[in-house]
Amino acid sequence: MASTIGTAQLMTITDETLPGLACLSTDDFKNHRDNFLAKMANNSMAFFPAAHEVTRSNDTEFSFCQNKNFYYLTGFNEPDALLVLLKKDHVEQAILFSLPKDKNQEVWHGRRVGQEKACQEYGIDQCFILDEKSERITQYLNGLTQVYFAFNDANIRQTVFDLLAQVSAKSRQGFKVPTTLVDANPIIDELRLIKSENEIALMRQVNYISCLAHKRAMQKARAGLFEYQIENEILHEFTYHGARHAAYATIVASGDNANILHYTNNDNKLKNNDLLLIDAGGELAGYAADITRTFPINGKFTQPQKILYQLVLDAKMKVIAAIKPGVTFAKLNEIANECLTKGLLELGILSGDLAHLLQEKACKKYFIHGLGHWLGLDVHDVGDYQIGAEKTQLRQFAAGMVLTIEPGLYFVPMLMKEISGHKDVNWDKVAEFQPYGGIRIEDNIVVKQGGIENLTR
Ligand code: GLY
Ligand code: MN
Ligand code: MN
Repeated sequence: MASTIGTAQLMTITDETLPGLACLSTDDFKNHRDNFLAKMANNSMAFFPAAHEVTRSNDTEFSFCQNKNFYYLTGFNEPDALLVLLKKDHVEQAILFSLPKDKNQEVWHGRRVGQEKACQEYGIDQCFILDEKSERITQYLNGLTQVYFAFNDANIRQTVFDLLAQVSAKSRQGFKVPTTLVDANPIIDELRLIKSENEIALMRQVNYISCLAHKRAMQKARAGLFEYQIENEILHEFTYHGARHAAYATIVASGDNANILHYTNNDNKLKNNDLLLIDAGGELAGYAADITRTFPINGKFTQPQKILYQLVLDAKMKVIAAIKPGVTFAKLNEIANECLTKGLLELGILSGDLAHLLQEKACKKYFIHGLGHWLGLDVHDVGDYQIGAEKTQLRQFAAGMVLTIEPGLYFVPMLMKEISGHKDVNWDKVAEFQPYGGIRIEDNIVVKQGGIENLTR
């Protein structure tokens, strides 16, 4: 059964630099619902399902993770529930269907909120047990014109089609079935893309906790330990400060493992002269941090390690300095491309004409992933990067957006083979630096009216 992720478990943070303990209130979740309702047509209904528990093996489950859209609109953390938003004759209502109170189930699996408390504590207008779902929703749907649901979710698609079929089956009794289906995702994605002050406060806090975890990992790292032992130090620090879960599988990649972007085996031994790349972020009240640091296991960079690291750091700093409202990811990519390509040329890893190398984006053989992404309830958060009817327009940054910036340099054997005969490559230099990639540095940035706030200080 699910545990609470709303306001709980934040009491261990005592650092005076954190003004108060962030959490989202009932009003925040109501605001989210009101914002979605404002986008709905009159005489329509929107469906948002909670997540189901997922089997790990036989009769044990993975730890529960709520559906993020459902969470954004309710703060409710039980599985299998269904939120419907109803706008009828311009009157707006939030209606929740959830698991019934059940003494036996609750003794085995944990407490359930129940319908009465769901209304009182979550600000929901009406709440019913799940068994009443079909009967009640077919009544609500009668006479409406539009329904909204996530088109990419097969389960809710089936639920909605079944409900519409039930309304349709009552046509002889005068029931009228809605005929327009609207994808809810683009609407809620746009809302989630712009974070409120309270959401940002929460993300500031989970970044702070995640920074503590990275610091602990740096303090504990030494040759002879296994990568998973460092992972354990990170998870300890998350949990100790109230971030009960990692926002994504923690990456602790020593030496050459750092060239595997989503390396999560974490089962190699740390070696004395290697670098250690850690990509780890906690999840606090549903919100993610996504931070990467790369550092020498023995505490001291060798000269080539230092040179590569400095280049990635320079790229990160230059890109972050350029972020403000109106700027696009395309512009930031230009800056990263210029910085890394110039740097690789100066090191002799690339050779040839700078203008040509820039045009070719020659650094992309070494910087092999995107520069950043939106961050929020999901680590790779929702929101289109290109907008407009044709999805060809670059989205400009606006106040309230939160994004990662994560330049890196890698020496992936397959790509190295591909370029080994290339005229712009000095293979001796590649071979000289190859043992010291991959390196990635990743910060989380809030776009503000006047510029930015870097959450990862
Ligand atoms: N941790 C996954 C990413 O950086 O995108
Ligand atoms: Mn990231
Ligand atoms: Mn990351």
